[in-house]
Amino acid sequence: MSGRTCLAIVLAAGEGTRMRSSRPKVLHAVAGCSLLGHVLATLKRIETSAVAIVLGPEHGDVSADARKNTAESQLFVQFERRGTAHAVLAAKAAIEAGADDILVIFGDTPLIRPQTLAALRAAIADGAAVAVLGFKPADPIGYGRLVTQGPELLAIVEHADANDKERTIALCNAGLMALDGKVALKILERIGNANRKGEYYLTDAVKIARDMKLRTVAMESTEDEVMGINTKAQLADAEAVMQHRLRQAALEAGVTLVAPETVHLAADTKLGRDVTVEPYVVFGPGVTVEDGATIRSFSHLAGAHVGKDAIVGPFARLRPGAQLEEGVHIGNFVEIKEALIEAGVKANHLSYIGDARVGAGANVGAGTITCNYDGAAKHRTDIGKGAFIGSNSALVAPVKIGDGAYVGSGSVITADVPADALALGRGRQTVKEGWAKRLRDLKSLIKKKA
Ligand code: UD1
Ligand code: MG
Repeated sequence: MSGRTCLAIVLAAGEGTRMRSSRPKVLHAVAGCSLLGHVLATLKRIETSAVAIVLGPEHGDVSADARKNTAESQLFVQFERRGTAHAVLAAKAAIEAGADDILVIFGDTPLIRPQTLAALRAAIADGAAVAVLGFKPADPIGYGRLVTQGPELLAIVEHADANDKERTIALCNAGLMALDGKVALKILERIGNANRKGEYYLTDAVKIARDMKLRTVAMESTEDEVMGINTKAQLADAEAVMQHRLRQAALEAGVTLVAPETVHLAADTKLGRDVTVEPYVVFGPGVTVEDGATIRSFSHLAGAHVGKDAIVGPFARLRPGAQLEEGVHIGNFVEIKEALIEAGVKANHLSYIGDARVGAGANVGAGTITCNYDGAAKHRTDIGKGAFIGSNSALVAPVKIGDGAYVGSGSVITADVPADALALGRGRQTVKEGWAKRLRDLKSLIKKKA
């Protein structure tokens, strides 16, 4: 935004009692990312110059999440929950540092869009001292009501304090607002707690600004954008809205989703052009799929990279650290974890490849298992370029299969195999001529006698 500085204050001190969870509310996830993480990602897109997060006193986990999401955020603790204005003032030091625009947003409102926050800031740039975001909820009970006159906002009346006439107002307070940095502190410090709940209401900023002869305005957004998450049911509703947005964005970017409503995406899923995703695929966090790849039905991917034109699934599982290079084929019931699968490798059926490298062009037969865990530590398997691993082989790590080597079916490989060698790690086959026929004859003789 045209050279103006912006401090965003994120309120996240709520206890989230209604989630009935031991986890702090803002750490619950939507599309594989915490509620707080979504808010911080949105703030990044409007290029705020500073972010202050207000936490409750026992929110150690939240600060770890905040640091993961943004290195630059400052954390403040609100020791007693005495209202939204009190919470904002917990970040007083950040406000004093100075900014042209101050945005106050809630940590439990993950669907807010950057353009909406930008519009609030534009109202401040335009001369308003306070700009408040409103919406018209299907059920307004519990929300503060916005008393307006044209675009001017005259007051916000909390539901508990509103009279019958004020309660008929459809436009409600979404909770988010922008303040002019020059007057913000003056306004905030005048807020008192003479109301039914005895709390310091941020919403009183409007009346105070007007008493100071300053302009206050209201803007309107859609209900789903400002949906606050208080319960697990609302968390599921937010997930549905987010999934819809992510699928639309993927379709617009040139991805083919055969049955979009069955594909579950993460907020950070990156799908290239001409990627095809068949029905019923789940993307956990941290997945990148390069151009032209196909993810077939019922596959589950997380923390994985899928190279150009690769084919994954149906029924494949790519776990964190799975790196598939160009043209790799991973088929049904194959699990890959922490493994580099080089270009052109085929592993089409029933395998586990973990803590490994599979060299370019190698063929991994059905039922191949890298035995990477000895009960105490993990060990690596290295399969050379162009190697051929026969079906139902167990590669007991640490072990190396040389380039171009051949492992006979059913082998248990416990020692390194040199390049271009054949390894048969199984017992010699014995044959007893006529044995099966003699068994059958004996059985029928016993039956006749009985
Ligand atoms: C608030 C608004 C109300 C609006 C509604 C929208 C005020 C006074 N009221 O009401 O007009 O319609 O949001 O959802 O602002 N928080 C703290 N510390 C506190 C109190 C709150 O960090 O001491 C945080 C909460 O974690 C939450 C947010 O501020 O993220 C809003 O608080 P909440 O108690 O939910 O306010 P509401 O009563 O819903
Ligand atoms: Mg609330």
